[in-house]
Parts: sequence; structure tokens; C-alpha cells
Amino acid sequence: VAIAGSAARGAGSLDQLRAAMDAFEHCELKRGARQLVFADGTPGAKVMIIGEAPGRDEDREGKPFVGRAGQLLDRMLAAIDLDRRENVYITNVLPWRPPQNRDPKPEEIGMMKPFLERHVALARPEVLVVMGNISCQAVLGKRGITRLRGKWDQAMDLPVIPMFHPAYLLRQPQMKRQAWADLLELKARLRGAT
Ligand code: URA
Repeated sequence: VAIAGSAARGAGSLDQLRAAMDAFEHCELKRGARQLVFADGTPGAKVMIIGEAPGRDEDREGKPFVGRAGQLLDRMLAAIDLDRRENVYITNVLPWRPPQNRDPKPEEIGMMKPFLERHVALARPEVLVVMGNISCQAVLGKRGITRLRGKWDQAMDLPVIPMFHPAYLLRQPQMKRQAWADLLELKARLRGAT
């Protein structure tokens, strides 16, 4: 993790951070993945969304949230007038696909955390949206998305709102009502900030 910390701190721009992550050899996930999945959307957008890890489609395309969960994410954002390309910046806790989409291990998350922190610092969002349990745990250090969702918290010097992961919402569509409430909470915050 010390190596990751110095590699991350050495990056003075998002391009440098991407290069540093691509060259980083101390996370075993890299070996099973096709490519680094760094980010999508607009750096500098007010909203930065942090998912879990790439899946099969993301691993193939090199962009976060392009599969079915990503399509639902796009619709969720559109429902509060956010365009995935223009008004948000999207990344994941882990930049490489875990084998068979298994849960990332705590040591993998810990290893890559300095890069995530640097990523947030360089992208300079106004708020963070953490999607799902893994991301919530990685960013806030807290478990229990069902309890934490929709409530503003604080991490990395920024307001953070946890939400249900869109992949979870695809499996549990009855939870979309809560997700909708959380999106409205985000929208209200953004309106208040402008
Ligand atoms: N799920 C995630 O958490 N991230 C992606 O990029 C795709 C699916």
C-alpha cells in the first residue's frame, strides 16, 4: 500500500494517474483483467460516482458502467436531469475486473485506495455518490447500504451520499422507490449548491 501511495501522490493530473495505475503491478486483479477501466464522463463535474469494479462489458470496452447496470445508471441520472457524459464523472473502487465478477477482497480495495483518493482529489467534484456496499465501505469505511443509503455523510473532504447499486436494483426492482428518493436528495443538494 505504501508503493501505491507514492505512485498515486506522484500523479499531478488525471492522465498521469491513469498511467500510474496502468503501470501498477501490485494488485492481483490486474492479471485477470483485459484492461484498466479508469473513468468516464467529465472530469470537474460536480458529481463523481464511484461504483465497485468493472464487469465483463466494462472490461471489454475499457469504460465504467457500460453494461446493463450502466444503462440503468444512465436512466437514473437522466431522471434528475444529469447526462452521463456531461454532468457527471464516473469511476470504480477497483479499476480491474475481478475474476468471474467475484467480490473484491479487502486487501485489493485497501491496495487501490490511495489511487481512488488521488482520483477524487484530481477530479475535484463537489459531491460523491457511492454505489453499493463495496463502494460505501471503501469510501466511508461503513457497512450496510440499506441503512446508510440516502443520508449524507462525509469522506475525502466531501459530502458523500450512498445509494443502492444499479446492479442490485436490477435484481430487486422493488427497491427502485428508495433509489428514486435518494436521487431526489442528490438533486436537491445540487440545486441548493448552484
Ligand atoms: N458495476 C460497477 O460497480 N461498476 C461498473 O463499472 C459496472 C458495473
